[in-house]
Amino acid sequence: MNKIKVAVIGATGAVGQVFMWMLANHPWFEVEYLTASAARVNQAYASTVHWLLPFEMPHSIRDRVISEFSAETMKSRGVQIVFSALPASVAAEAEPLLRDMGFYVFSNASAMRYFKNVPILIPEANIETLELIEDQGYPEKGFVVTNANCVTTGLAMAIAPLKKFGIKEISVCSYQSVSGAGYPGLSSFDITDNCIPYIGGEEEKIEKEIKKILSMDPIVDAYCVRVPVMFGHLEAVWVTLEQDVSTESIIDAWDKFGSVSHLPSTPGHPVLYDSEPTSPQPKQAFWGTPKGMVVYTGRLKKRGNRIGFVLLVNNVVKGAAGGSIQNAEAFVEKYGLI
Ligand SMILES: NC(=O)c1ccc[n+]([C@@H]2O[C@H](COP(=O)([O-])OP(=O)(O)OC[C@H]3O[C@@H](n4cnc5c(N)ncnc54)[C@H](OP(=O)(O)O)[C@@H]3O)[C@@H](O)[C@H]2O)c1
Repeated sequence: MNKIKVAVIGATGAVGQVFMWMLANHPWFEVEYLTASAARVNQAYASTVHWLLPFEMPHSIRDRVISEFSAETMKSRGVQIVFSALPASVAAEAEPLLRDMGFYVFSNASAMRYFKNVPILIPEANIETLELIEDQGYPEKGFVVTNANCVTTGLAMAIAPLKKFGIKEISVCSYQSVSGAGYPGLSSFDITDNCIPYIGGEEEKIEKEIKKILSMDPIVDAYCVRVPVMFGHLEAVWVTLEQDVSTESIIDAWDKFGSVSHLPSTPGHPVLYDSEPTSPQPKQAFWGTPKGMVVYTGRLKKRGNRIGFVLLVNNVVKGAAGGSIQNAEAFVEKYGLI
């Protein structure tokens, strides 16, 4: 089978590296083109990237050369899908341009997330919103599909299976790792031996995105805290349900959630509950198969119709690059690109 040619734009950042790692042996996609900022053009990937992931860089990507951002060259080299790991300000210009040139763009940036005809896709939670690409003009034209802010992704994964019980109110406090701020991110002077109870724009994103993803309108309140951890965001969540539901029913709903396990990047059980009182922890961020794609829940509590729990999401994998790759797989499968 010929693989689908893809580009990774922003391939050297925290999210871009995860794209390069996950796509190195992907069964459907092969990286034909990669870009970073102008200073890195014509350099070999391994010689210029500051590799952050807690395992070795795949050998097949070490000598890949970073190209300038040229949509025309990407076209001439047969690229169909573009994975974007650009900062939002850069994505705001690049992504509409790529869409208008007929590319299928899967983005991590927030630039286009709130456009009415642009889905914030999480295949397990809202696969039906993929059809919005037809409102953007597909198949005659290109499109942009986004994934959510990383905290929202974890939250949506844990809440989607509970939607059937009626969601009245969500309150979340996050404990977010430093990789969530990109590389080089925060100064070590600010975050070493410290926690910072403010992440600009983050709380507003969660409050807005969870409603769009799950097509519902509960009260949502968030506090976001940066903590001195490399990977993985923890979230302590309280949900007020319309029904009085047993903890067994909540665990059962998480256990049965996961209807898209036939996609290569989707785990058999995308939400895993662990009753061990010290779980989940950011140390588990790269657990699971595929690595980093499982959302772990634990610490379940019930107070009448209020349910409390803690979750862990890998912010750079399921919450970013892995989520985008899964979205592209869902598109390829539904629209038969192969
Ligand atoms: N980190 C996360 O956990 C996370 C989670 C979900 C979503 N996101 C979103 O994903 C995107 C990438 O995040 P990140 O954490 O990977 O950021 P990052 O580490 O700062 O990486 C940004 C990437 O974009 C490139 N870039 C920067 N300015 C550019 C320009 N003017 N022209 C071309 N390329 C440029 C960088 O290249 P150089 O290396 O050459 O500078 C780098 O490859 C952001 O929109 C972010 O909000 C991040």
